[in-house]
Amino acid sequence: MINSKQIRWIEVNDYQEMSRQAASLFEQQLLRKPDSVLGLATGGTPIGFYEELVRKYKQGAFSFSEVKTFNLDEYVGLASNESTSYHNYMEENLFSQIDISPDNIHLPNGLAKDLLAECAHYEQLIQQNGGIDLQLLGIGVNGHIGFNEPGTSFQSATHIVTLAEETRIENSKYFHTKQEVPRYAITMGIETIMQAKQIVLLAFGEHKVASIKRIQQDGMSEDFPASCLKEHPNVTIIYGK
Ligand code: F6R
Repeated sequence: MINSKQIRWIEVNDYQEMSRQAASLFEQQLLRKPDSVLGLATGGTPIGFYEELVRKYKQGAFSFSEVKTFNLDEYVGLASNESTSYHNYMEENLFSQIDISPDNIHLPNGLAKDLLAECAHYEQLIQQNGGIDLQLLGIGVNGHIGFNEPGTSFQSATHIVTLAEETRIENSKYFHTKQEVPRYAITMGIETIMQAKQIVLLAFGEHKVASIKRIQQDGMSEDFPASCLKEHPNVTIIYGK
């Protein structure tokens, strides 16, 4: 269905198809530009996508030897080797299984002494590396992308966020208790994300239907962060339930 000038909508029948379609877009990107800068996401949604990407890599479809990655976000206060950190998620689901150089992997440092300086440094690193060629996104039920919660300025760069209560509840499934879910995170800003040359957003399941409908049917508003994508020239949304 096409109901916006820019967004390319791909509706899929099952989770595997979503993961395969997304991996295929990343494959095309890596074949076109082996030294791509990839923007990556964590969460439940892209697990199948990473499995598919690793499977293709192991078949020899492409290499990550020249690839650089920047993740969207990281919790404040979690060490990279803690099981619930996004560093650890990425290591388990992707980095430990591919030929990427550790020097080319970037996630915000949620343990930095000076968090503001860390945000500025992260933003600068993305620019210094030429910007993101292809950015992967998931979407929160409240429309967040990265950890940009409703109300975040569309002009925001990498910054520190206070996580919305609904996000902490949503993410508590990855922690022993809700109390353990960190209150703060570092995230790329909306403007950082919008500067990516190409964006792929994945959403799967009944609980994401309302969020997808809001992008399809409503106008742009900072109350619903993902609505910013309507202004981007190259977005693909792969979704299903
Ligand atoms: C993850 C991220 C978040 C998630 C979103 C959806 O790096 O930035 O925006 O993409 O919370 O999470 P899942 O996929 O677990 O529903």
